[in-house]
Amino acid sequence: MSFESKIKQLEEKHRLAELGGGQERIDKQHKAGRLTARERINLLLDPGTFVEIDKFVTHTATDFGMDKNKILGDGVVTGYGKIDGRLMYVFAQDFTVFGGSLSRANANKIIKIMDLAMKMGAPVIGLNDSGGARIQEGVESLAGYADIFYRNVRSSGVIPQISAVLGPCAGGAVYSPAITDFILMVKETSYMFVTGPDVIKTVTHEEVTKEELGGAMTHNKKSGVAHFTAEDDEQAMMMLRELMGFLPLNNMEDPPVKPCTDDLTREDPALDKIVPVDPNKPYNMKDIIHSVIDNGHFLEVMPHYAQNIIIGFARIGGRPLGIVANQPQVLAGVLDIASSTKAARFVRFCDAFNIPLITFEDVPGFLPGTAQEYGGIIKHGAKLLYAFAEATVPKITVITRKAYGGAYDVMSSKHIGADVNLAYPTAEIAVMGPDGAVNIIYRHLDIEARKEKVQEYRDNFASPYKAAEIGYIDEIIYPRQTRRKLVEALEMTATKSDSNPPKKHGNIPL
Ligand code: HXC
Repeated sequence: MSFESKIKQLEEKHRLAELGGGQERIDKQHKAGRLTARERINLLLDPGTFVEIDKFVTHTATDFGMDKNKILGDGVVTGYGKIDGRLMYVFAQDFTVFGGSLSRANANKIIKIMDLAMKMGAPVIGLNDSGGARIQEGVESLAGYADIFYRNVRSSGVIPQISAVLGPCAGGAVYSPAITDFILMVKETSYMFVTGPDVIKTVTHEEVTKEELGGAMTHNKKSGVAHFTAEDDEQAMMMLRELMGFLPLNNMEDPPVKPCTDDLTREDPALDKIVPVDPNKPYNMKDIIHSVIDNGHFLEVMPHYAQNIIIGFARIGGRPLGIVANQPQVLAGVLDIASSTKAARFVRFCDAFNIPLITFEDVPGFLPGTAQEYGGIIKHGAKLLYAFAEATVPKITVITRKAYGGAYDVMSSKHIGADVNLAYPTAEIAVMGPDGAVNIIYRHLDIEARKEKVQEYRDNFASPYKAAEIGYIDEIIYPRQTRRKLVEALEMTATKSDSNPPKKHGNIPL
């Protein structure tokens, strides 16, 4: 064979691999509002940086006539490239090839880049679009999944692992994303379920649509399985790029600092009036967050789930940080099962990847009631306490209003290792609210006398000064200066070096 013919042969192989399951199936994918694996990768990575690995791999199955049905690449595109010039490993399942299902060969491709990512210390981004285990391959496919899960777990906390779910993901295709750090879904084109509507109908006689069962809003709003929602594949890729901009490549690195164009000493007079005089009136904690961070740029995580707590990434002085904040506008900012687990996982992520934590606190306590108690609020609330106590990254807390009871302890208090604890003059730091306290210690008094005691309690105890007198609060700040105070605190804690006692691992109440 001449050199020219050999080149032609190579070109033909490239063409076939890039065609995946064929033009008809590509058209079907587009018609369904979804992009192909390669189109997604091209949008995700910096132009021209993608290097594909194992493009010509094929499966080795022979049953069900599979020996006559081979497609180069076998349903997953794998390799590496760059986002903002930084190394990332990527795999993208190709739904046009056997529905993106996982074969042994296909799993081996994913495993190869996962192992490379761990060796080089760079994130893995998985673009999932898969019908689950390749049915024709049986246990070989299950083994492939388990090999991926094993690596997901070993990589957890070492390199960021991010999943986009971009099509119907069933069975094994949902468990790997579940172990990764963040899941992004696309409205109306992506689904996640362990078993689909048909199986559910047979087993539990429930009738449910795909969308209700495992659509993007189900998992972003109801189950809390997913963290981000995009309108379409293109926006999904842009959101992944934005997210990666806040994260270090691995747990030995600091997150990427960007030049700061926002005045570090900027004051915001609106913050002086943000906390209402009436302690029962809500306000929007996001107004404080947007005011103090660089250029108001906040990437909120899980914005639709447990909205009584806000979590997300931002920068101050160009440095990435994780924000955890009670939201007085929703359920008065109370801590319940959903908000505790939401915030706990985020705190642990930030701690694993050296991202400082800023906590804005206005919390009346834990939500009372049988639903919460039977649901295990004790152990779920404990997760947040555990996560904050365990975190060794810089921890800065600003109490804007209520810090009552156990919730005071939990929300990154001085006692569980916070480095800088600030409070607004409007802060109320006490074992419980004035009404509750008076109803217990003055229960023998009549209503009028109790009213007086409530006022007395409010004046003497519902303030930041008792806590400041004993050093539990480092400084009572002018709200307008919050940004400047956070800049100072972040600068002061930038060289923090702290660690937990050596252990195999802790035993967080799961
Ligand atoms: C092999 C598969 C496949 C699979 C889809 N295909 N899923 N091939 N193994 N698991 C093929 C189809 O035969 C079809 O081939 C093409 O992919 C597109 O599939 P369609 O059904 O036409 O697409 P659509 O209507 O969009 O439906 C997508 C789907 C459905 C919802 C994902 O295909 C489906 O229900 N698939 C099976 C899902 C499943 O039960 N997976 C196994 C889970 S068990 P042609 O040639 O016609 O284009 C599992 C165990 C692991 O994962 C557990 C580990 C913990």
